[in-house]
Amino acid sequence: MVLVDEGLGIYNRIMGNINISITAEFTSLIKAQEYSRYIYFVSTKSRKIYSLVSKIAPSSLMDHIFKSRIQLSQEFDDFVKNTQFNCAVEFGCGYSLRGFEYCLKNKDNMYIDTDCEDVVKNKKEILEKICVDTGIDFPKNYMLLAVDALEDNVYEKLSSYIVGDKNIFLAEGLTPYFSFEQYSHFIENIKQLLKLRGGVFFSQENHRKDNSFGYKLLRKFVAIMTRNKSYVKFMDGNELKTFIKDKGFESVSIYYKNDILFYKIN
Ligand SMILES: C[S@@+](CC[C@H](N)C(=O)[O-])C[C@H]1O[C@@H](n2cnc3c(N)ncnc32)[C@H](O)[C@@H]1O
Repeated sequence: MVLVDEGLGIYNRIMGNINISITAEFTSLIKAQEYSRYIYFVSTKSRKIYSLVSKIAPSSLMDHIFKSRIQLSQEFDDFVKNTQFNCAVEFGCGYSLRGFEYCLKNKDNMYIDTDCEDVVKNKKEILEKICVDTGIDFPKNYMLLAVDALEDNVYEKLSSYIVGDKNIFLAEGLTPYFSFEQYSHFIENIKQLLKLRGGVFFSQENHRKDNSFGYKLLRKFVAIMTRNKSYVKFMDGNELKTFIKDKGFESVSIYYKNDILFYKIN
């Protein structure tokens, strides 16, 4: 098991990491290239950091990072589109519009977006503004809940809202920010949810790659600017799979797409 730090997160907390919320804004900035509604979630501070980064980083590197991030998100979109469920729960939903948009089109299933309190509050206000600006009703089957994915009360917080046993639990761009200890704890929370509520957990993890020097430098720079850190906790998918199986899960599948490691647990 390798534990390789990819940043300098001196501000990283042991449990929870509110500072990560700025990463939700960066993700929105990238997603805004594909869907302009994401611009609502990008603050002046994030724009300034982006403008600075894009002045020093080669445009080919920026293009690669943006493309890869969008491909990552599209895989989650496809998973939601191709899986039957009664209730979907996203951990660390950030400002993703997946759940909100889903509920505008599909009224029968519940979609619960969860994140830290400050993100949830901000997101709710902005979504309400989007509804007013575009003349749409806030979907009744869409819910925003403050849930720290690393607390012990995750099951208690979600349990009463989850209906049926065809549930999907998603974590896009969340766990790479967790240390090994945090990730282990999060997986225990997922275990409890799957045991008591059934369904599938779908996510992605960092894995060991021979990234270019420019990429590593940029990661360090962004880590300092945003006071964040991401971790490579597993060499590859097999190591991740072994770790999850050792945690007591029977069914784990992994696959790579565009060099991104995805996995499903049920
Ligand atoms: C890179 S963003 C990804 C956002 C979103 N999933 C997306 O892909 O657009 C990471 C998100 O994880 C959230 N987060 C970090 N630590 C968390 C925790 N312990 N519990 C819940 N959310 C957390 C942050 O607030 C942030 O919104």
